[in-house]
Amino acid sequence: MFATKAIFALLPFAFTQISQGAPSPATLTLSEILYHQSEVYSTPAHLATYGGYIDFNLTNSNPAVPGIIHCSAVGMHLTEMFFGEFNYTCASPAGVATNFTYDRPTNGFTLNQTWSEDGRKAYLASGQGSTDLSCKYTSWTNSNWTMGQLYHTENVDCAPGQLVITPEITEISGTYH
Ligand SMILES: *[C@@H]1O[C@H](CO)[C@@H](O)[C@H](O)[C@H]1NC(C)=O
Ligand SMILES: *[C@@H]1O[C@H](CO)[C@@H](O)[C@H](O)[C@H]1NC(C)=O
Ligand SMILES: *[C@@H]1O[C@H](CO)[C@@H](O)[C@H](O)[C@H]1NC(C)=O
Ligand SMILES: *[C@@H]1O[C@H](CO)[C@@H](O)[C@H](O)[C@H]1NC(C)=O
Ligand SMILES: *[C@@H]1O[C@H](CO)[C@@H](O)[C@H](O)[C@H]1NC(C)=O
Repeated sequence: MFATKAIFALLPFAFTQISQGAPSPATLTLSEILYHQSEVYSTPAHLATYGGYIDFNLTNSNPAVPGIIHCSAVGMHLTEMFFGEFNYTCASPAGVATNFTYDRPTNGFTLNQTWSEDGRKAYLASGQGSTDLSCKYTSWTNSNWTMGQLYHTENVDCAPGQLVITPEITEISGTYH
């Protein structure tokens, strides 16, 4: 907030633009995008545990949304775990709300973030994008399996990825709390 006020004081032109309702610019940067997936078969016919885990750090270039926001979700929709069909909520600071969806087949994200500036106006940034993740697939089978042992495991582990989204910004009525 102090940073925002200082910038407004130094840049009366920018302040004028914002007070006239012009959307404040912002880019959303997803960094350290981490995807991991595992499937464990306890018998040849029984998938005992499975799940996908998506994690990333989000920053908004707009000074009204300072700091790193951490986003993560667990998906259990076989066989790719995430198909973009659920909204997940990121751990956002007070006055900010962030939701995302993730689609594993395309590594596609949609993001919505709301915040207020100077305690007066509220904005919604809405955007989408997809990225390439470099993933390693490993599997293991117990060739001499007997009941009570693990039969088969499959893992997907991806190197950290990054994605920059230029969202559409709209002013929304009221202040977001
Ligand atoms: C990602 O966020 C975590 C805390 O949520 C932090 O420890 C880590 O340094 C961040 N990584 C980057 C690249 O900013
Ligand atoms: C996700 O949230 C938006 C509002 O932000 C809502 O319109 C949409 O129906 C939600 N989708 C699901 C699958 O819950
Ligand atoms: C983002 O907002 C749009 C428009 O309200 C909505 O259709 C979409 O489902 C929302 N997505 C998320 C992840 O909240
Ligand atoms: C996020 O999702 C929640 C629950 O669906 C909704 O109340 C909120 O308006 C959404 N926020 C954004 C920024 O899409
Ligand atoms: C396979 O399992 C049987 C029974 O536990 C054991 O006797 C045998 O030595 C095992 N063979 C190998 C190759 O591990």
